[in-house]
Amino acid sequence: MITVKDHIYTMTTRDTSYVLSTPDGKNIENLHYGKRINRAPLTADTGKIAGAERAELTDTADIMTDGKTVQALKEKYNNPYGNAIQSTGNMTLDNICLEFSNAGTGDYRILPLILRREDGCISTRFYFADSVLYEGLYKDRDRTGMPYAREGEPSSDTGRPYTLEMIYRNKAEGESGDDKALELRLIYTAFEDCDVITRRTVLINDTSVTYVIEDIASMMLDLHGTDYVLKTFDGMWTRERHAHDKVLESGIYETGSVHGISSNVHNPFIMLSDIDATEDHGDCYAFNLIYSGNHRERVEVSEYGKVRILTGINPQGFEYRLKPGETFYTPEAVMTYSDKGFNGASQNMHRFVTGHIIPDNFRRSLRPVLINNWEATYFDFNRRKLLNLAKDAARLGIELFVLDDGWFGIRNDDTTSLGDWSVNEKKLGGSLKSLVDEIKALGLKFGIWVEPEMISKKSKLYEAHPDWAVSVPGMEDYLGRNQYNLDYTLPEVRDYIVGILSKLLKSADISYVKWDMNRPFTDLYSKGGTYPGEFAHRYVLGLYDVMKRLTDAFPHVLFEGCSAGGSRFDLGILSFMPQIWTSDDTDANERMMIQGGTSYGYPPSTMGAHVSASPNHQTLRETTLETRFDVASMGVLGYELDLTRLSHMERKIISEQVKFYKAHRELLQTGVFTRVYDRHDRVIWQIADDEGDHAVALLYRRSSEPNKSDDILFAKGLKEDALYKVRVKESKIPVKTFGNLINMVSPVHIKEEGVMQAMIGKAYAMDGEVEEYTVSGAALMYAGIRLNSRFIGTGLGEGTRVMGDHSARLYTIDKIG
Ligand code: DGJ
Repeated sequence: MITVKDHIYTMTTRDTSYVLSTPDGKNIENLHYGKRINRAPLTADTGKIAGAERAELTDTADIMTDGKTVQALKEKYNNPYGNAIQSTGNMTLDNICLEFSNAGTGDYRILPLILRREDGCISTRFYFADSVLYEGLYKDRDRTGMPYAREGEPSSDTGRPYTLEMIYRNKAEGESGDDKALELRLIYTAFEDCDVITRRTVLINDTSVTYVIEDIASMMLDLHGTDYVLKTFDGMWTRERHAHDKVLESGIYETGSVHGISSNVHNPFIMLSDIDATEDHGDCYAFNLIYSGNHRERVEVSEYGKVRILTGINPQGFEYRLKPGETFYTPEAVMTYSDKGFNGASQNMHRFVTGHIIPDNFRRSLRPVLINNWEATYFDFNRRKLLNLAKDAARLGIELFVLDDGWFGIRNDDTTSLGDWSVNEKKLGGSLKSLVDEIKALGLKFGIWVEPEMISKKSKLYEAHPDWAVSVPGMEDYLGRNQYNLDYTLPEVRDYIVGILSKLLKSADISYVKWDMNRPFTDLYSKGGTYPGEFAHRYVLGLYDVMKRLTDAFPHVLFEGCSAGGSRFDLGILSFMPQIWTSDDTDANERMMIQGGTSYGYPPSTMGAHVSASPNHQTLRETTLETRFDVASMGVLGYELDLTRLSHMERKIISEQVKFYKAHRELLQTGVFTRVYDRHDRVIWQIADDEGDHAVALLYRRSSEPNKSDDILFAKGLKEDALYKVRVKESKIPVKTFGNLINMVSPVHIKEEGVMQAMIGKAYAMDGEVEEYTVSGAALMYAGIRLNSRFIGTGLGEGTRVMGDHSARLYTIDKIG
């Protein structure tokens, strides 16, 4: 809900308020963004705002407009500040929470807009002129060329989104020589159901001269206070989105990407929390961008005790020429606030992603369990190998077979053929359709890998169109994985890709596409004439054009984004592709960091998570099959290992895993994810239904600490007075876990790592502990279940929990009364 009265603009979501006023008629002051203040939250009993109560909101919002509360919230300017520059009266723009700030007005903080006039002047005088308020999304959203937050499903509890446009005009005397002006619009849309407000900036050139945009933020937010912690999500290939904290002090903090993609180095999702905030308590703001290209997030702690946050396109290499009559749209930025710590803000973002980002037709659809042949075969496969893999997958209950890289052109390694999307029938032993039909006859769906934004130097496409490859003529080329980026700024390139992929998708019954993108950009240059300063942004617009055309034409195909693992995990991609391959690193221990970091901004249903071989192909770390599954089940489950070489025991374990996942799939893929505990080398995550009746919890041990604390299982968000049955998921303990200790119980000597140990291990494994408890919600949440002892070198009883380094357990939690 948004209300406008007496120049007070109040945006209200379920638990937050965002209040603006115009102190001098020229600038917009942010009076408050945070916990809801214009009415006590209506969440006490139901967590929802009932329809009738919503209708009252317009009136209750008037608490803000009775003048008294507003007067109390306004910044006071009793005295001029030393050598500060003055605006109206004693007002100093450098010391006020603004929504937009002009260059050249004495606000020396980081600025949201650097706009160069023909004569080189960068000062602007955008003054607030007008506002427009309407129900629904931003009216010009389809002109932006970028994905935007969707309206979502109407609900009786919360209303439709509302949009507010705050209109500023720059009409400096003598500037354009006529009465036309530049116009700047700040667009706000309030999504009541998930406590999210989105923002974007729109710049309209209604003058007769060209302006150059050197830097334009999607949003600027000023808050009071300086005691904040900035949480960013950073990494590298196979180490994506690890959470890092920076305690802010006076100064400017910056994160972002100049890779041409959102990148695995710094994700556009950031959090700003109170210094004392925990997972469940304290003020926490979170920000993201619906964009897949170069981005930048900046935070300045000012000398006046305020903090400014800017997010948007990264200005490095960016220079947009805004010609007369043209409009520039920034990507849509996303903000949320919660007073319930990091989990509160994460859960708001999760609801927003599920309800307003991923394609409508995938919002409720459950994702299939897949087998991907990449780590099973790499490039070395033929029809027989693929079919054997598919047969085993079908026997184990897996639902979708994904054929990864190497099926086209002459691609038997990564040096050739990208761009030549014609089937290698020799390698596949026949047409793609015949293979797909055979795999479908086994009861599996079929999916295929593509990398459509690339061109190999060794390819027919490169021979025909060297000018489609992104490089600068006359300069040395820098290749990544032997390939160039394709120039998606050119319409003919986009038409070619849409055409050839449409043909592929029509050629057989393909239900899933893995869309890979393996090299970041280096040169920002088009041989087709795209202005270099606009190249990076126009590439992203071109990418969205291609993705939109293909996903509109094939709405039932499930697309999974991928970029050398998780190099492009962002809301832009999720707007077309409901899940993304989280990382090439499938080691369970590393995944706890990667999936854990990713969970701050994105729900489990967006994270592709596969069980792969041990030792792991990225880290060479050994973990049990049970542990690998337990961690992967906290995302969208898949398998990526050679199933044909599994032992009898491993098959049995996997088939039980798939059964377990399917039985709990709806909960795992649509439930509320909570980080419950992370201390003493022990991590607990939980996914529960909205009502708090059912949950699955993961307990992960980073290391085995002998004779230290025993494990305690906690939960969150359950019903205090209800009774729950808590059960550990059945598990198996491989014989080799015990090394030569096995000889303490074996009647014959078994040599460690010997043939006999291997033979026994293939057919036999010990049963893991059986633990079952009946416990009240309050006891489970506030006291915790003291689980059976862990194996610590003495004795092994029936209930002993054998958990070494990097080991996990799953627990089901079900309300029984
Ligand atoms: C990188 C991806 O992340 C992998 O999963 C795999 O698809 C390879 N590319 C194939 O080249």
